[in-house]
Amino acid sequence: MGISRLPKASLLDTALFAGAVFLPTFAKGPIIRRPRVVALVERFRLDDRAVDAVCRIHSRNPEGPLLLRLPLRHQALILAPGHVDTVLNMSPDPFSPASAEKRAALTHFQPNNVLISTGPIRSVRRALQEQVLDTDHPIHLLADAFLPVVREEMDELLATAAERGELIWKDFLAAWYRVVRRVVFGDHARDDSELTDMIVQLRRNGNWAFLRPQQKKLRAKFLARITEELARAEEGSLASVMAARAPRFEGAAPAEQVPQWLFAFDPAGMATFRALAVLATHPEARSRARQELHDDGSSRSFLPYLRSCVLEALRLWPTTPLILRQTTRPVEWEDGMMPAKCGVLIFAPYFHRDERNLPRAHQFAPERWLDDDGGDSDGWPLVPFSDGPVVCPGKQLVLLLTSAALAQLIDRTDLHLTSRHRLDPQGRLPGTLDNYSLRFAPSPRGEG
Ligand code: HEM
Repeated sequence: MGISRLPKASLLDTALFAGAVFLPTFAKGPIIRRPRVVALVERFRLDDRAVDAVCRIHSRNPEGPLLLRLPLRHQALILAPGHVDTVLNMSPDPFSPASAEKRAALTHFQPNNVLISTGPIRSVRRALQEQVLDTDHPIHLLADAFLPVVREEMDELLATAAERGELIWKDFLAAWYRVVRRVVFGDHARDDSELTDMIVQLRRNGNWAFLRPQQKKLRAKFLARITEELARAEEGSLASVMAARAPRFEGAAPAEQVPQWLFAFDPAGMATFRALAVLATHPEARSRARQELHDDGSSRSFLPYLRSCVLEALRLWPTTPLILRQTTRPVEWEDGMMPAKCGVLIFAPYFHRDERNLPRAHQFAPERWLDDDGGDSDGWPLVPFSDGPVVCPGKQLVLLLTSAALAQLIDRTDLHLTSRHRLDPQGRLPGTLDNYSLRFAPSPRGEG
């Protein structure tokens, strides 16, 4: 007897998914966010509605995976927590991260990046990434060089905020990009905004995936600049580690591994600014974070509570809401067979905000990340950095830099949230937190 196909969603449920989840996610910008759309999504609570829509779809369908009724392509939606583990742990084969839509989007600026590579060359690129990003260590091998950079730039940001009488996203982003350029390329690149501007343009094209032609000249110019930076390899930068390690990894395309770093430091900045908004409005969490700073013996290289605050901000407002895979061959599930070349989609907010299974799903509870190794909560999938063999290799570096940035911003300054956002510690936190419109009034600690 042949094995049956997986259950199929009705046309109505497929349309509901496309309208409530896919459309707003695509409109917000999968590769670089469109601030005006983010504001609209927040205003109309579209991210909350997306989670409700998946709840409704799940209530009418079995655990799945559920095949959506799309033309031209097989697309499965993951609904059971155990299936999240299966997909992530069985990556990159048979669940390849190099899905068709990801390839179309990322080819605009990094056609040979690990994320869209397959087969043996993927393993080579992944191994190089892990070495340079020091994936297995909470404290990056260059932490002693990076932490003063974060301190200096955040101090300068606070000085700008004091002068302006306000801390706003635009100034934060400028300071964050200075940190990123110094960490990635070294101090000489601090004000070289041409480098980061080029990738912004290429990412804008990436938002349209195959609907927009590639700017090959710009991409070549951008990759040539990165190659120069790797040759320069300023001491104390990620570029220096890359330059030293890359020769051992044949075919790794080192210059094309770097754009992913520049690209991915963006969500790290967003998460930091959102965590700051929560700390400004949650006195208990703020006191605990300051106590951690007071007791710290690690020169701020390991601040577990502040790291958990960043993880919790990413749980509440995941910057990669859709984790995408594509099957390399047919895969058998309890409910039936998933065909080869089938898109597989994990909608992280559905699991991150599941109030039926996750305590305080809509509240800020960073302690939940202190109890385990930061992967999940009692086996429930919390996957802002994904998980398994394809887990974000930059996770620990992100937590190092973002926790240090938060530390510097809250240690001697009180930040009062002045934008209209309501972030009530006892209430339900919104499904979207528009980082672009967050504003704070700074004052010296204790005088606010
Ligand atoms: C808040 C910030 C970040 C978040 C939430 C994040 C999250 C993720 C996620 C969800 C993936 C996809 C994994 C998958 O498909 O299962 C990923 C991949 C990746 N991330 Fe990050 N990331 C962040 C920042 C960074 C930074 C700053 C770097 C480098 C400096 C980085 C390097 C990478 C690389 C190289 C991959 C590809 C891994 C592979 O394909 O094996 N990420 N990240």
